[in-house]
Amino acid sequence: MFQRLRARMGKTSDKQPEALDRDNIPEHIAIIMDGNGRWAKSRGLPRVAGHHSGMKAVKRITMAADRLGVKYLTLYAFSTENWKRPKAEVEFLMKLPQEFLAIELQELIDNNVQVRMMGYKQDLPEHTLSAVEEAVRQTEDNTGLVLNFALNYGSRKEMIEAVRLIGEDIRSGRLAPADIQESHLEKSLLSSGLPDPDLLIRTSGELRLSNFMLWQLAYSEMWFTDVYWPEFSEEHFYEAIREYQRRARRYGGL
Ligand code: FPP
Repeated sequence: MFQRLRARMGKTSDKQPEALDRDNIPEHIAIIMDGNGRWAKSRGLPRVAGHHSGMKAVKRITMAADRLGVKYLTLYAFSTENWKRPKAEVEFLMKLPQEFLAIELQELIDNNVQVRMMGYKQDLPEHTLSAVEEAVRQTEDNTGLVLNFALNYGSRKEMIEAVRLIGEDIRSGRLAPADIQESHLEKSLLSSGLPDPDLLIRTSGELRLSNFMLWQLAYSEMWFTDVYWPEFSEEHFYEAIREYQRRARRYGGL
């Protein structure tokens, strides 16, 4: 697979990570891909040009994650709050999954990548949802990297929905309030079936979570960079992982 990927990726394939411990690659990396608008503004371009360039970074980092043997890559592509943006920008963002998959789906399939979506489907335009669902369907049996798009995702909504499901179980007598465990909530979250992220990356210099995986990030290592997402390179990605490998994870213990 490596040979095939190298042949396809041309120059980028030369960028091999230096000094990474191959036995301590984070299993699940989650990324808040921020700074598209500022990247565009700094070049005198419209904001949407930043999102378009951000889409290329999605490809770059997906392939880098796949080469390293990361098992899950979750990308925050659109939040439940992003609908507040100007209509034209929202429409542009809603076209990106379609464009991305039209160009990249075959290569994702060739590399055994499994595409998933984590978010609320009901509000998405039909063209966005059908492109994503088609990619999910075509890759559901793949066993390589899971590329999980957080699309129309919001953590507070996710938790409220989970509490609602637990409430139903209590009302129907299937569950007693005293018996509620973490596992009940976890299996009701949109991330059900995924391990918690080991590493969270946020680009663009902002130091906040922006309603992203608030439950799941409880013990994740966090890494922030000033680099805007469209400029986020394989080397930045390796740097984040190198830093992760220097951390001691104690989960509240000693
Ligand atoms: C935040 O940057 C970014 C987003 C809201 C959209 C992220 C989407 C992509 C990177 C492309 C997704 C591609 C696929 C294939 C789904 P911002 O616009 O808030 O940046 P700013 O803070 O500088 O304004």
